[in-house]
Amino acid sequence: YLGTMKDVDGVLEIGGVLVTKLQKDYGTPLYIYDLELMEKKITALKEGFHSDKFKTTIVYASKAYLSKGMVQVVDKMGLDIDAVSAGELHTILSTKINPKKVHMHGNNKSLEELEMCVGSEIGSIILDNRFEAKRVADVCKRLGKKIDVMLRLNIGIDAHTHEYIKTAKHTSKFGESIFDRDIVEIVRDIVEKEELNFLGFHCHIGSQIFDELAFGEGIETMVKFTKEISEKLNIKIPEINLGGGFGVRYTDEDTDVDLKKLMKKIVKSLEVTLESEKVTIEKVSIEPGRSIVAQAGSTLYTVGGKKKTFGGEKYIFIDGGMTDNIRPALYSAKYESVVANRLNEEKKEVVTLAGKCCESGDIIIKDTKLGKCDEGDLVLVSCTGAYGHSMSSNYNKALKPAVVFVKNGRSYLVSKRETYEDLVRNDLMLEEI
Ligand code: LLP
Repeated sequence: YLGTMKDVDGVLEIGGVLVTKLQKDYGTPLYIYDLELMEKKITALKEGFHSDKFKTTIVYASKAYLSKGMVQVVDKMGLDIDAVSAGELHTILSTKINPKKVHMHGNNKSLEELEMCVGSEIGSIILDNRFEAKRVADVCKRLGKKIDVMLRLNIGIDAHTHEYIKTAKHTSKFGESIFDRDIVEIVRDIVEKEELNFLGFHCHIGSQIFDELAFGEGIETMVKFTKEISEKLNIKIPEINLGGGFGVRYTDEDTDVDLKKLMKKIVKSLEVTLESEKVTIEKVSIEPGRSIVAQAGSTLYTVGGKKKTFGGEKYIFIDGGMTDNIRPALYSAKYESVVANRLNEEKKEVVTLAGKCCESGDIIIKDTKLGKCDEGDLVLVSCTGAYGHSMSSNYNKALKPAVVFVKNGRSYLVSKRETYEDLVRNDLMLEEI
């Protein structure tokens, strides 16, 4: 069991609340976040990621899971937060968070997005490329403001993860390559722009990375590059941001990651590299998303029925599917599940959990061992907290599920279930046809 999950007479309890009660109060499908586990993950990151040699900041990568409630949690725990779109920025800024704690990413930020960033005086913009520097400077000039910026680098590290979530191969669309022959001039151009205050470099080598050597390699490359540029341009570079990507254990196939230990290793590697390269950096940031929310989130479904096909496949049909969790279809992601109201039953049947979309690929888990389970029972799929809700869709006009946070026997509704009216809110009838 993850976090505060407990077996209470055969019924699963999370954060001190029985899932049967959650079903009654909020219906299914339902995203459930174990608030205590989220806080523990953040604490582990904070305890591991600090140093006497430089300041540290942890920036939550909000794309992993974002709601106003989540912003409150992150803010209360003392983290900064990033956004990659006007929509994420708007969600974050519609809370009481100090805009200075917000940082903006994106490889193709629109003028509207840049105006939002500069106008709201957010903490920093991470420039993706040489052309963006001019755009941001123009916006600043027009609005009479100045803004802190970093430059995202492609450091050419091929981390071992799913092809779709690798970000720093030489062919990746993100950042400016450190191998570009104009790279020194690109940085000089940013540094010389009066409206921009250049903080330093950013990199992110990919997501769901277990390979510690890749992080070490990333650190070495970033430090050496920072040194080279600061010598060539004769400037001080105060900050580097190493991105996120720390791996999470979803099933037995993955290794367990001790976040605090991993952070300590990263800090040690930073300290050693800075020392050996004789580089002083004032501040180092990281941007974890998945490692904070993945294990804390689960999805609760109600079983609608079962089917054994002529071909021998045994299906359990649940009332959600690829609309609330696209990851199995998109990345062949693996999950685990239990019959949450019948934990005492022996897990002996191999079944496939299928959703309700008109699509054969709408499978949440293929061939999983489940206990006895009938119509009306509850199936909980664990570790869905990252990139589940945030990548959900209205395909087949599915209503996006509600989200609750649970802790110490209480549940807090942070997002209401969508209504049918929500689905047609923006549709207009043709006047004539
Ligand atoms: N920083 C940057 C610049 C990023 O692009 C990302 C993730 C992160 C931080 C956070 O990475 P994390 O700590 O969450 O691994 N939809 C995919 C994952 C896409 C990740 C995109 N960037 C999935 O469901 O696996």
